[in-house]
Amino acid sequence: MAATAAATRRFLAPGRVNLIGEHTDYSGGLVLPAALDLGVTVTVTAAERIRLHSDGHTARVDIAADGSGDRPVGWGRFVAAVAAQLAALGRPPVGIEGSVSSTVPPGAGLSSSAALEVAVATALCAVADVALEPLVLAAACRNAEEEAVGVPCGILDQAASVLGEPDHAILLDCGSLAHEAVPLPAGLRLLVVDSGERHAHESSGYADRRRELEAGLATLGWPAPAELSPDDLGALEGIPLRRVRHVVTENARVRDTVAALRHGDEAQLGALFRGSHESMRDDYEITTLALDELVDLAYAAGAVAARMTGGGFGGSIVALVHEDAAERIASEVVEGFTRGAAIARLCAASAGAREV
Ligand code: GLA
Repeated sequence: MAATAAATRRFLAPGRVNLIGEHTDYSGGLVLPAALDLGVTVTVTAAERIRLHSDGHTARVDIAADGSGDRPVGWGRFVAAVAAQLAALGRPPVGIEGSVSSTVPPGAGLSSSAALEVAVATALCAVADVALEPLVLAAACRNAEEEAVGVPCGILDQAASVLGEPDHAILLDCGSLAHEAVPLPAGLRLLVVDSGERHAHESSGYADRRRELEAGLATLGWPAPAELSPDDLGALEGIPLRRVRHVVTENARVRDTVAALRHGDEAQLGALFRGSHESMRDDYEITTLALDELVDLAYAAGAVAARMTGGGFGGSIVALVHEDAAERIASEVVEGFTRGAAIARLCAASAGAREV
């Protein structure tokens, strides 16, 4: 019998926007992301090695199916680290050959690297007939991110990419990994505005923030910040106080946002997003003047709620806007922006990683 050519299969993993719950994940707190209708697509056949090329990148990846050997540079670092993490979980060394394409803008705070990791991991598991629990796959991809670029991130981005549901945000407790889908109110759209200011958490203050937070938590005897109130922070002062206070109040804002979404309480959503942005600006010190300006412009144009989203130090804001005003608000924010060329995207909350 003639051998049949290996079938071409296509896998998609979305980027994410975090509605609220910023820098809460790596201390076991609450986050509320939505997967986006922007993502990374991997179109491959099963093969002996992992051989991938990508639109927009000249560098190709050509590595062993278990990720072993010399580490590639550039985007290939993520691929190799994912393959190595999955090999450590017992995935048989089946390779993939084909292409990678992305609609997630890199460095915009929308988790382009997590989408790449999750898309590659989903493909590698599928061709090897390995079925991992979604959050086990997400954790492997989180570990790959840290292995590839040394960023001590939490599980937010990768979890959002696997758990996403159309028209829902995902409430995830990063401590217990319990999660539930929270419907987004009909009539509200997600507006993501990219400041154009680029950041890479390899070199941003991301790791410093985590260290400063943990110094504060160590002084308090390592409590779970999601169970603290601001009144519990009397033993702290200065930077550790501000870092812990952000995380404590941000966890509370995630709970309150879920309640406000369920009740369609727009005034409360506006106040919570505003409070989150101010806490990131003043206590966690991760916003930029460009992000502060975009948030002000969004509220001035009539957004229900707006705040910086993602790791910070550049990237995007997320706003909740009424459907019938969405286009107008998007253009007013972009036109009013004085600190560069912003790009507005009206997005839909989408399904998580899957074969397409
Ligand atoms: C980045 C990290 C996430 C999370 C956010 C901030 O996206 O990868 O783990 O910490 O920043 O909420």
